[in-house]
Amino acid sequence: RAPHLTEAPVSGNGHHLESHVLAPVSVIAPTRNEAENIAPLVARLERVLPEGSEIIFVDDSEDDTPAVIESVALRSRCPIRLIHRPPSQRDGGLGGAVVAGLRAARSSWACVMDADLQHPPELIPRLLAQARLTQADLVIASRYCDEGKAEGLDGIRTAISRTSTTAARLAFPRRLRRVSDPMSGFFLLRKDLIDIDALRPRGFKILLEILVRNRHLKVSEVGFEFGKRYAGESKASLREGFRYLAHLGTLRLGNDALRFAAFAAIGLSGLLVNTLVLLAGTELVGFHYLLSVVFATWASTLWNFSLTDAWVFGDRREANRWGERLAMFAFVNTLALLVRGPMIYVLTSILGIYYVLSNIISLVSLSLVRYGMSDAWIWKV
Ligand code: GDD
Ligand code: MN
Repeated sequence: RAPHLTEAPVSGNGHHLESHVLAPVSVIAPTRNEAENIAPLVARLERVLPEGSEIIFVDDSEDDTPAVIESVALRSRCPIRLIHRPPSQRDGGLGGAVVAGLRAARSSWACVMDADLQHPPELIPRLLAQARLTQADLVIASRYCDEGKAEGLDGIRTAISRTSTTAARLAFPRRLRRVSDPMSGFFLLRKDLIDIDALRPRGFKILLEILVRNRHLKVSEVGFEFGKRYAGESKASLREGFRYLAHLGTLRLGNDALRFAAFAAIGLSGLLVNTLVLLAGTELVGFHYLLSVVFATWASTLWNFSLTDAWVFGDRREANRWGERLAMFAFVNTLALLVRGPMIYVLTSILGIYYVLSNIISLVSLSLVRYGMSDAWIWKV
């Protein structure tokens, strides 16, 4: 434990939190088009931050927010740093920005907060005091404990917030049992205690990821009133919602299991395409069922390839070019056809199983091999 925390004297008269006895903190504020909020935020932060603190803005804006930050920094008493991420380096969105801020932070305590003043800067001394009092490594400013409130959310957002919290709780019942607001974007963290390189942020829910990947952290909470945005508008969107679901899935299952689940789900849809073409070829056109199997395979190959390339291995397209990936995928499926053809023939013409069923059996039985080839060869890392 940092000596300045345990050895610091109790604040002045014992009633007020005097900022000079609190540890310095690196405030990390992710920003995306928040120009009008910067000056009021900095003004309020300056009044409450302990001596030696810094403010780090990690910016992904298209407007003049970076210029505003630079001009406010010139007049500020507290050191202000700006990390502007060009469009090509905006991985992870909000969460990615927070991780970049954690990397750059110079204090061992980092306080992550929104820049739109929905998170009151005046709470920071209370978060620091709570950390000292409870010996916590992570103090969450919670909308859902004690006197906490979420007034700043409208009806729909409240429902979404409740639902996503419940989903997280179902996925991690033990870790989140005593955490009332794992979705909060306002928290104080002993930065040295976490492995920053292990974080794989995707969008808004970086706190959840920190909680789940760092089970050793001692967590405490302080209630607060989540107010209304000062200026500008929220960047939450439907896309962020889907991103959260994918993030939660990855955190719960690990990347490989999630990939396989997605591959299997797409495979299932491809099975439908395959069966329809098989039936059409055989029953409508009048081909021999084994010839229809070939056409059906090409159809589902194209279907599966497009979806797999976009959804399963969307992040692993570097090793091969698009045309190469398609050719390799088609090659694997054609190779599989050499095994499936005789298999279907035996099942149907010798054992008398309905050809549509034989076809499905052959596809399912080779799916593990097809996944293995895709993972290790076509979309290799
Ligand atoms: N650098 C960067 N990049 N910052 C971003 C991005 C991004 O892609 N997207 C949003 N931000 C910044 C905003 O500029 C703001 O300072 C902060 O992140 C929060 O974004 P808002 O758009 O205001 O989010 P919100 O108010 O809807 O959501 C807040 O409450 C949620 C819980 O209801 C955030 O605190 C969420 O983290 C939190 O889960
Ligand atoms: Mn906001």
